[in-house]
Amino acid sequence: MASSPSHFFVLIATIFISSLFHPSTAQLNSSFYSCTCPNAYTIVRSIVHQAMASDTRIGASLVRLHFHDCFANGCDASILLDDSPSIQSEKHAAPNFKSARGFEVVDRIKAALECSCRGVVSCADILALASEASVSLSGGPSWTVLLGRRDSTTANQAGANTSIPSPSEGLANISNKFSAVGLEITDLVALSGAHTFGKAQCRTFSERLYNFKGTGGPDPTLNATYLAVLQQICPEDGNGGFGLANLDPTNTSDGHDFDNNYFSNLQSLQGLLQSDQELFSTPNAKIIAIVNSFSGDQSAFFQSFAQSMVKMGNISPLTGKDGEIRLNCRKVNAG
Ligand code: HEM
Ligand SMILES: *[C@@H]1O[C@H](CO)[C@@H](O)[C@H](O)[C@H]1NC(C)=O
Ligand SMILES: *[C@@H]1O[C@H](CO)[C@@H](O)[C@H](O)[C@H]1NC(C)=O
Ligand SMILES: *[C@@H]1O[C@H](CO)[C@@H](O)[C@H](O)[C@H]1NC(C)=O
Ligand SMILES: *[C@@H]1O[C@H](CO)[C@@H](O)[C@H](O)[C@H]1NC(C)=O
Ligand SMILES: *[C@@H]1O[C@H](CO)[C@@H](O)[C@H](O)[C@H]1NC(C)=O
Repeated sequence: MASSPSHFFVLIATIFISSLFHPSTAQLNSSFYSCTCPNAYTIVRSIVHQAMASDTRIGASLVRLHFHDCFANGCDASILLDDSPSIQSEKHAAPNFKSARGFEVVDRIKAALECSCRGVVSCADILALASEASVSLSGGPSWTVLLGRRDSTTANQAGANTSIPSPSEGLANISNKFSAVGLEITDLVALSGAHTFGKAQCRTFSERLYNFKGTGGPDPTLNATYLAVLQQICPEDGNGGFGLANLDPTNTSDGHDFDNNYFSNLQSLQGLLQSDQELFSTPNAKIIAIVNSFSGDQSAFFQSFAQSMVKMGNISPLTGKDGEIRLNCRKVNAG
């Protein structure tokens, strides 16, 4: 049946007609730079590796940049643009302000790539490559990064304010924000596992320590031993809320390694953010089952995480002739 000549003709005609109507929906692929910048990945990885030697947190920060980039207007490096007369920077959006970090390392990667292959590798692809390098260099999974994204010429600060989830908005709202960009519950749980490394400021979770939802007491789902530890790190009204706690409190490489402890932390009621603990403490059998399976099987988590990172990296990329290849990730090209 499927191999009859008329079916074959219909198939070819369908491909031809759909290519006429979707001229710029080129697919990302892993060999995009194989002729034009074959060392792109090696260069990115070596600079991430070098940066990790002086800043053990940088891998986590780079992964988060990719996430925040992809959720606001797709994976187009819009988060990297500085303020200018034509740009209202996403760096000043609520989820990023005094929080997103790693921009200088992206600049160093871009400078090295410009040296080797001028005007070729997009800033959006740098974020995708740096994320994989950060995770794999921290003991997490490796995966094949899909490439060919181009860079935006605009930023979307309002979009960054509304599309990136906040830790206190509740699981239902957060899963809506994921499904708005094509990510499902399994992706939400797997990608939240990125909170196995890096840090969070007290202001992002201190409501849970002192006055949860106006109750005048702590979040009842918070482990009492862990609560006491966190109250030490984050005294009420201390440091303007800028103190830092490890997202993963288990003492493995001071919280800088990528493992599945995040999920056992949720089981022992030691999720740091409200949005973390809700994955286990909200009565939702399907989500709890995924947490339990990742907690019991690190390779299942790693495999899911890698798959979901590829999926996240595919959120509305600019391809073909759309956008540009920025020469400096912080500003659009002149002219
Ligand atoms: C599910 C919804 C999510 C919420 C509400 C959330 C929220 C947060 C917050 C509030 C912080 C602390 C920021 C600060 O204090 O400066 C943080 C840190 C972090 N997030 Fe998320 N996040 C979510 C999902 C994700 C995803 C999907 C990823 C990546 C795949 C990710 C990766 C990270 C990393 C690695 C850090 C540590 C960054 C660093 O140390 O610089 N998060 N997140
Ligand atoms: C990868 O994508 C680019 C742009 O769409 C295309 O030119 C190239 O042929 C693709 N490579 C493979 C191996 O599919
Ligand atoms: C985004 O949020 C920040 C911080 O709350 C606010 O200052 C800014 O005006 C918002 N931007 C837009 C475009 O809504
Ligand atoms: C959840 O989303 C709804 C609809 O956008 C909004 O009205 C509500 O304030 C959100 N909840 C929280 C806790 O932010
Ligand atoms: C973590 O473990 C290391 C080595 O086992 C130890 O030196 C360090 O004091 C521990 N840190 C904390 C916060 O427990
Ligand atoms: C609270 O955390 C401790 C480790 O700090 C753990 O031993 C204990 O089982 C946890 N309690 C609950 C109720 O999970």
